[in-house]
Amino acid sequence: MIALSFSNILEINSAYRAVWQAPSNIALVKYWGKKALQQPVNASLSMTLSKAASKTSVEVRPSEQRTISFSFEGKQKPEFIPKIDQFFKRIENYCPWINRAAFTIKSENTFPHSAGIASSASSMAALALALTDIDEQLNPGKGDEDFLMKASFLARLASGSASRSVYGGYSVWGLHPEFSRSSDTYAIGYEKIHPVFESFHDDVLITDSQPKAVSSTAGHGLMNNHPFLEGRIAQADKNIRELATALQDGDLNRFIEITENEALTLHGLMMSSEKSFMLIKPTTLAIIKAVRNFRKQSDVPVCFTLDAGPNVHLLYPDKAKEKVQQFIKDELLQYCENQFYLEDITGAGPKKQESYDA
Ligand code: DP6
Repeated sequence: MIALSFSNILEINSAYRAVWQAPSNIALVKYWGKKALQQPVNASLSMTLSKAASKTSVEVRPSEQRTISFSFEGKQKPEFIPKIDQFFKRIENYCPWINRAAFTIKSENTFPHSAGIASSASSMAALALALTDIDEQLNPGKGDEDFLMKASFLARLASGSASRSVYGGYSVWGLHPEFSRSSDTYAIGYEKIHPVFESFHDDVLITDSQPKAVSSTAGHGLMNNHPFLEGRIAQADKNIRELATALQDGDLNRFIEITENEALTLHGLMMSSEKSFMLIKPTTLAIIKAVRNFRKQSDVPVCFTLDAGPNVHLLYPDKAKEKVQQFIKDELLQYCENQFYLEDITGAGPKKQESYDA
């Protein structure tokens, strides 16, 4: 593991500000289950998206004690402060200055609320990047070689999947022998990518925009005593190794097999845990069936993955775009709430912004 150098500065003596935009990501090999404070039971691998993102501005000024004001899309949202405060408690050993600062945090998403997609990865990555930026401003001259790793380390302490959102393309979070600099405490970028996976589509078919029935934090807890835990760890270790090879070789068939296996495993684990959850809906299953039929009949390399919810992510290479778009219109839109879906594609990663309002 690489030692990350945070400022360790105890207090700020003037005002600082940083604004970052960070994208969401879709896990191909899923993170499901924790073994220690925000450390995963298995390594996960994700693709960073381009359009689904959060923009966050953090302003701090000196203060006797920590205070937080948080607004989302222009409205004060005090109900989010406990989560931010819990995150700050987890990182105060690395950035002690946060204990003597008044925070004004503003955030917004680039995707509609109605989409029902989780925003914790993008929003927590944007917040962590802004905090890392301020930490570096406090300690100039240290160089920013490990800037993204530090941001990933902090982001993970807010939300595990957020640790992967600080890189463009593909990233891996969790220690695994296949990835030399990998760690349970921060994600790394995975760059051995065949051109076919460089612009890979992820269209999110919204079957239900209602909030999730189980928070992912509670969901991860269900893995603690799960009868399949050991088998799951072995399966994920094998899947991530083979997926890395498929991404490198441009092997679409193997990519499809592993990605769908991971999606169904995630939901299988939820359904078979002591407290059982079924988050997929009849429309989710109808889409899965239609995708598999279409692939068999047309040979178009399109597959699905799922998050912890009923919406379906359709994944396919750019060269299949026209055929898949037609397929969505002809066969899948009938299963989407208000015939709604979001189009996205592999993204280049977070961006620092000059101002929040630009
Ligand atoms: C199913 O990152 O939301 O999306 O660390 O408790 O915030 P916390 O969980 P979170 O879990 C995401 C789980 C998943 C799979 C994944 O993104 O790897």
